[in-house]
Amino acid sequence: MGLFNNHDKVERSATLLLILSFVVVTVGGLVEIAPLFWLDNTIEKVKGMRPYTPLELAGRKIYIREGCYLCHSQMIRPFRDEVERYGHYSLAAESMYDHPFQWGSKRTGPDLARVGGRYSDKWHREHMHDPRSVVPESVMPGYPFLAKTELDYEHIADDMRTNAIVGVPYTQDMIKNAKADVVAQATGEDTEGLVKRYGQKTFGSAVPLKARDFDGNPKKITELDALIAYLQMLGTLVDFKTFKPEGENLR
Ligand code: HEC
Repeated sequence: MGLFNNHDKVERSATLLLILSFVVVTVGGLVEIAPLFWLDNTIEKVKGMRPYTPLELAGRKIYIREGCYLCHSQMIRPFRDEVERYGHYSLAAESMYDHPFQWGSKRTGPDLARVGGRYSDKWHREHMHDPRSVVPESVMPGYPFLAKTELDYEHIADDMRTNAIVGVPYTQDMIKNAKADVVAQATGEDTEGLVKRYGQKTFGSAVPLKARDFDGNPKKITELDALIAYLQMLGTLVDFKTFKPEGENLR
């Protein structure tokens, strides 16, 4: 066939092969990249996603500070083995309020994108204190100091303001009440305002907001309170019983 005979010519001339390859790559690149300039947003909106509460945001900062991302990913890929082990694959929207995102690139330990609600607070307390007390073969380091260190949330409102600059929809009301909301969530007391601002009714999340004494020490608000509050909400906001990917009916 003519087409294949011509192919012979292309393969014998390095210059022609190079020019044609360049043309192919250019067209392919344009087709992939150009539409991105006309789309306002490449993230599909999903019901249930809300910004982190101040306490969860503080816990997330501890997660980053301690380098948990060096051993844990937060990104479930759409492959059968991952979905069966960790749950529904991660959606772009689930990390839309993450600055920076915590997808990670190394899994010395399991993925944590849906660890919320998988274990009790008590399990997390023991695990963070000494991982080998609950998982004898664990190679994870212990973080016993978190339970002893009081949480520094002096500047939490500033953190929220900074997040708002890069697009996290924190309202003035949320920022103004940041410190009170930390206390409410870490004690489970006077949670009315907190629930109004971040609760199920406002954002339609799959599970109610968790407000309680996470670290088992009602006398102090510690870094462990914040970290466990963060871990317990991971991956729980979107209701996958009702979630339908956009464009599902096109397939
Ligand atoms: C040196 C690597 C390493 C680091 C750093 C590390 N982990 Fe782990 N993590 C592991 C390993 C390995 C496991 C699996 C064994 C176990 O459960 O302890 C694990 C398990 C876990 C689990 C249980 C997950 C599940 O689904 O069973 C949680 C939660 C967790 N880690 C949280 C953290 C947090 C929070 C930090 C940071 C404060 C952290 N890890 C830092 C290695 C690490």
